[in-house]
Amino acid sequence: MKNILVIGSTGQIGSELTVELRKRYGNEHVVAGYIPGAEPTGELKETGPSVIADVTDRQSIELAVRKHKIDTIYNLAALLSVVAESRPAMAWKIGIDGLWNVLEVAREHHCAVFTPSSIGSFGLSTPHVKTPQDTVQRPSTMYGVTKVTTELLSDYYHTKYGVDTRAVRFPGIISNVTPPGGGTTDYAVDIYYAAVKGEQFVCPVKAGTYMDMMYMPDALNAAISLMEADPTRLIHRNAFNIASMSFDPEEIYAAIKKIRPEFEMVYQIDPVKQAIADSWPDSLDDTCARLEWDWCPKYDLETMTVDMLEKLELKLKK
Ligand code: SER
Repeated sequence: MKNILVIGSTGQIGSELTVELRKRYGNEHVVAGYIPGAEPTGELKETGPSVIADVTDRQSIELAVRKHKIDTIYNLAALLSVVAESRPAMAWKIGIDGLWNVLEVAREHHCAVFTPSSIGSFGLSTPHVKTPQDTVQRPSTMYGVTKVTTELLSDYYHTKYGVDTRAVRFPGIISNVTPPGGGTTDYAVDIYYAAVKGEQFVCPVKAGTYMDMMYMPDALNAAISLMEADPTRLIHRNAFNIASMSFDPEEIYAAIKKIRPEFEMVYQIDPVKQAIADSWPDSLDDTCARLEWDWCPKYDLETMTVDMLEKLELKLKK
């Protein structure tokens, strides 16, 4: 990875991934791709170059790649699960037509490509506990349909054209910098904001609903380590199960309450989110990622909770 383009650099993952990549590879070598109307601001804008990179406009991707001599693309453009259910055509246009554009440019310009998949690529007929790497993927959501297609299309470009495509299946990502928008796992971010603001949290999914989650530093490490991994060790490519913690609303509530005993949570179930969450695995088996590229997360629910509360305390005080 010499010159890197991050498409979707202003989103939840992109905003932190771009900054982390700049720390590792040098500011000038990491370009923040954005769509008009969502320009980089603050640290993202100040620390390095940025360029328009709209996946629905192939020319913009091609221009960005040529101008900055890009050899690696992190393609993070996507609608999250709840939004994708209300805008399925747009989810397809961004997720799949957009991916096609990125892969075509990558094929012509010899770029490696990372396009994440998700726990959302699984469905009701998937084994829900310790979901294996290779198993049934019949999702019932448009988000899931685009993610399974992403995996297949990325593998196709690798086997057919030799494009160096690699990816992970991200769980719900928890972070304190840029809030997620319109995902089923967002509650596990929102709950920390409520706790720090001293508000009662209204939880949209039922007690007993388990989903895999991950703290942002581990998610960033996963994306970067996989792209740096020795290709001769990779048996899988698109996409690896990764896991670090799985909990239900009661467990994250208890972890926060240990530090903030006054914190209160009540339930008001959102049927759309509940149905999506019920169709996803409770926990993934990430053995292949551990064996093929030494995946090893650092945070669990307790250590993440301490860090989230500290960081949000500082952020919300400003
Ligand atoms: N965080 C995503 C969502 O909830 C899942 O990968 O949509």
